[in-house]
Order: sequence, then C-alpha cells, then structure tokens
Amino acid sequence: MGQALPKPALRPYLAEDTPVLAAIFAAAIEELTGDDYNEAQQQAWASVADDEEQFGRRLASELTLIATLRNSPVGFAALKGADQIDMLYVHPGVVGQGVGSMLCEALEKLAGGRGAKSLTVDASDNALEFFSKRGYVAKQRNTVSINGEWLANTTMQKSLADATSPGDPQ
Ligand SMILES: CC(C)(COP(=O)(O)OP(=O)(O)OC[C@H]1O[C@@H](n2cnc3c(N)ncnc32)[C@H](O)[C@@H]1OP(=O)(O)O)[C@@H](O)C(=O)NCCC(=O)NCCS
Repeated sequence: MGQALPKPALRPYLAEDTPVLAAIFAAAIEELTGDDYNEAQQQAWASVADDEEQFGRRLASELTLIATLRNSPVGFAALKGADQIDMLYVHPGVVGQGVGSMLCEALEKLAGGRGAKSLTVDASDNALEFFSKRGYVAKQRNTVSINGEWLANTTMQKSLADATSPGDPQ
C-alpha cells in the first residue's frame, strides 16, 4: 500500500552533507543488516561514522554521489579510484524503491568514464543479492576486522565492457 516515491535526483557530495550521510550510514546498518550480522558486528560497523571529521575526509577523498528526494539526502555511494565501490548506503525509509540501483548505475557510468574495464565491491552479505541482480559476480570471501569485530563480506566484480561498448546502430 506504499505510495510511489517521486523520482530521486543525484548530486555530488558537499562537506556540509557529512552529518546526514553519517546518520544514513548508521541507520542502514542498524536496520537493514540484522539478518546477516549480530548486534556487536553491526555496532562496530556503524561506529565507523562516529568520527564525523574522519568520515567526511573519506567521503571527500572519493567520488561521492548523493541521492535526494525533495532535496533531502536518502542515500549515497562512493567510488574509490576508477574501479572500486567503497560505499553504498540507502536510508531504511526508502529502501527497495530503486535508490540503490540509481546510485550504483551512476557509479558504473563514472567508473567507465574513468577508463575502468570492471568495477569491484566488497559486498556485505545483505547486499549480495542486490549486486548479483546488477550483474556482479562473486570472486572471493573475506573476513575483515572492524573496530574489534570480525565481519564477512564477498569481493564481487562486474565487467563494464557492455556498458561502454557502442549501442545498437538502430
Ligand atoms: C543494499 C542497498 C544499498 C540496496 O538499496 P535499495 O535502494 O533497497 O536497492 P533497490 O531498491 O535499487 O533494489 C534493486 C534490486 O535489488 C533487490 N534488493 C535490494 N536489497 C536487497 C536485499 N537486502 N536482499 C535481497 N534483494 C535486495 C531489490 O529487491 C531490487 O530487486 P528488483 O530489481 O528485482 O526489484 C540497501 O539495502 C542498503 O543500504 N543496505 C545496507 C547497507 C549495505 O549493506 N550496503 C552495501 C555495502 S557494500
């Protein structure tokens, strides 16, 4: 019975967005990852944004895009270098309505524009299906230590060859 959302817009990150992006980051982890990670793991992961200055430096050092609805940020994604998705987080209130896809598609185009032949992401377990649906293929399982907790993720890769090849003549 949910109402259709207006189409989200995309814009580049600005320094003053940092607090709201930190809040989206924490809310997405707390509310969307509980089936795959325990509370201690979620807290350790979410606390990465507690130091807003450091989090802002990370956002600014990457190509960070923000999805907005009625001018309010509802999600963000960050491209590291030419070929790595470092972050993709959508506010739980708008999840499942295409915001993540829109952000991911934009990063794929930007990566192609930077000359990348493929795009890689260390996908959290809850995001595996999202990335699989977009054509990313699992390459390896990892276990990473974040603030004293061990979390599993999967390195996934998508070839950008199709996206950068010329379209059909007609
Ligand atoms: C993963 C995430 C970014 C997806 O954002 P979203 O806006 O809900 O994604 P979309 O609405 O564009 O979904 C696209 C497709 O993926 C599917 N999908 C999205 N999240 C899914 C999930 N957790 N499990 C299964 N399928 C999922 C959708 O159903 C949709 O399928 P469809 O095209 O067949 O309808 C969001 O759930 C999130 O922020 N998760 C927590 C943070 C996180 O783990 N980020 C990834 C770090 S690598």
